[in-house]
Amino acid sequence: MGIDVDPNWWKTLFDEIYLITDARSVCDEALTCREIDVICELLPMKASHRILDLCGGHGRHAFELCKRGFTECTLLDYSRVLIDVAKTRAIENNYSVDFIQCDARNAELPSETFDHVIIMGNSLGYIQEPEADIKILTEAYRVLREGGWLLVDIADGTTVKQSFNPNAWHEIGKATVVCRQREIRGDFIRARELVIDKHKGLIRDQTYALRLYDSEALEALFRQAGFSKFNVHINFSPHQSDGDYGFMNNRMIGLGQKD
Ligand SMILES: C[S@@+](CC[C@H](N)C(=O)[O-])C[C@H]1O[C@@H](n2cnc3c(N)ncnc32)[C@H](O)[C@@H]1O
Repeated sequence: MGIDVDPNWWKTLFDEIYLITDARSVCDEALTCREIDVICELLPMKASHRILDLCGGHGRHAFELCKRGFTECTLLDYSRVLIDVAKTRAIENNYSVDFIQCDARNAELPSETFDHVIIMGNSLGYIQEPEADIKILTEAYRVLREGGWLLVDIADGTTVKQSFNPNAWHEIGKATVVCRQREIRGDFIRARELVIDKHKGLIRDQTYALRLYDSEALEALFRQAGFSKFNVHINFSPHQSDGDYGFMNNRMIGLGQKD
């Protein structure tokens, strides 16, 4: 039997449990540092630049930029839970970040404002309609100033398909087990995730689906959004050890500049 997915799964999955199940990728400060090192190598960044962390989740990239002296960061995400987690951490650490909770397809931000937009950690491909990611990148293009850059860090669909693993499980700490069953249908990977707390029992049984992009499809996306200058870097994996990290170990980075 196939894995059925509610098309609105992405509106509710990104909560406190996600911060546990994906902790190996999104709650590892050394790994986030390595990701920001790569951003700083690829983009002509200055501390005074305005940076939008689009689909920025609980703020790990925006905060690492703050630590490195960047003073004009904005984070936009749909998840109220993750925005609240980020706001609390910003207050505790005195990080100056603006937060916006909304759908990236209609970013509630003025045009021609940002020097750089970053979309990190495989945050595209969640909405089933093919136009959805074009809308997100079109919004990124709109809010960039002339000459500004968009950087997208996303799973490399070619490698994900080649190294496809239909079943995986891992433990988080002593208490939590995450089990994933997966299938590929066309350009979508579908997954069912069971999260078991050894004391409380089953705490999540959720399905989700992701559109996979290869480098050509990513380039087409950038071009449809208006970027005429594009290049891609493949073989990006900030993880230092082998393992099944969901879609987070085989990534590529697309770069586009607004004319
Ligand atoms: C895998 S998480 C990555 C978060 C963050 N970029 C990171 O690397 O830690 C994907 C994020 O994209 C956000 N997201 C997905 N689709 C979105 C949309 N249409 N509008 C706003 N946020 C969205 C989710 O809420 C989630 O926080």
